[in-house]
Amino acid sequence: MHFYLPTRIYSERDSVKKHGNEWASLGRKALIVTGKSSAENGALADVTEALEHQGTKYFVFDETQQNPSVEHVLKIREKGIEQQADFVIGVGGGSPMDAAKAVALMLAHADRGAEYLYEKNIAGEKDYDAALPVVEVPTTCGTGSEVTPYAILTRHDACIKASLPHKIYPAYALVDGKYLMGTKREIIVNTAVDTLGHFMESYINTNATDFSRMLCEYGLGVWRSAKNILIGAGITVQDCDTMMFASTLAGMAIAHTGTALPHGLSYYLTYEKGVPHGKAVGYFLPGYLAASGPMIRKKVLSLAGFPDIQYFTAFIHRLLEPDDVSEELVAKAVRGLMSNESKLRNVPFAVTEPLLYQICRSGFGAVIS
Ligand SMILES: [Fe+2]
Repeated sequence: MHFYLPTRIYSERDSVKKHGNEWASLGRKALIVTGKSSAENGALADVTEALEHQGTKYFVFDETQQNPSVEHVLKIREKGIEQQADFVIGVGGGSPMDAAKAVALMLAHADRGAEYLYEKNIAGEKDYDAALPVVEVPTTCGTGSEVTPYAILTRHDACIKASLPHKIYPAYALVDGKYLMGTKREIIVNTAVDTLGHFMESYINTNATDFSRMLCEYGLGVWRSAKNILIGAGITVQDCDTMMFASTLAGMAIAHTGTALPHGLSYYLTYEKGVPHGKAVGYFLPGYLAASGPMIRKKVLSLAGFPDIQYFTAFIHRLLEPDDVSEELVAKAVRGLMSNESKLRNVPFAVTEPLLYQICRSGFGAVIS
């Protein structure tokens, strides 16, 4: 059993500005990878203020795609080379944070092309791959990317979203719930469901250890304490702090276990239909729990504050608008999962095609057409 997490985490109000003297001097010039909305929640302003205070130059790339593709990462790398950036800062949700890691990897291997991103066995027995230092500032409460070594990109060559085989741990995670205030409820709901998925898939996972279970058991309690905001209660800044903290804890858990079937299935929905990540994961959570053993299912549901699987399924269906999903897409996801050895390895029960169909059907109910 081991626990390895080389990321320095600051989770508190104004963490970006308070610790600028550390992270803002990781290099001479930063490439900031972000999207347009980060300019609105104050995160980008805090980052640039801290860099200026430290006398560190920066270049802002604020056109990061949702679900960034391999080609998009290479385009951002060109900016980094042009600007002679020597560290990378991701500001936003999963898309800019994952893109920042991939760009940092490719800047450290500037002589390599797209094929390097999915080249396997680079890390070997090491716990990380060579990349420029990365700082992550999350502004949504779902991905946990600020503390994981994972970067998930869209692969148009394989028609899917897929995690890089490289491990790129951020040097710093600067977590502050204030960036969530004012975020659309729909985004908070989807990303909080992603966090729930991380906890559930990490807990029901062949790689789970006492370390990762400890994070899930405590973290699910944190998540549960704020879950009423998802069904319509007013959202306070304390709720935002709580959900953001839960997201980081869930990221720490999956950094050690990886995710399982719901994430594996979700990538097909996101690639083919543009369903937001957390929402796509959420569809498959009731089915994943139903397929797991009764003892562990009961434990996870109770930690998350649900009396039984029926209640949990109704909660998820209430939160997530149904999407019309074709039989063809379900079949593609099932076939893809059955050949995804790395995801199947994480599942602590036998996975068959009929079981995957059952998990998909329980997610969409009558909306499969
Ligand atoms: Fe996720």
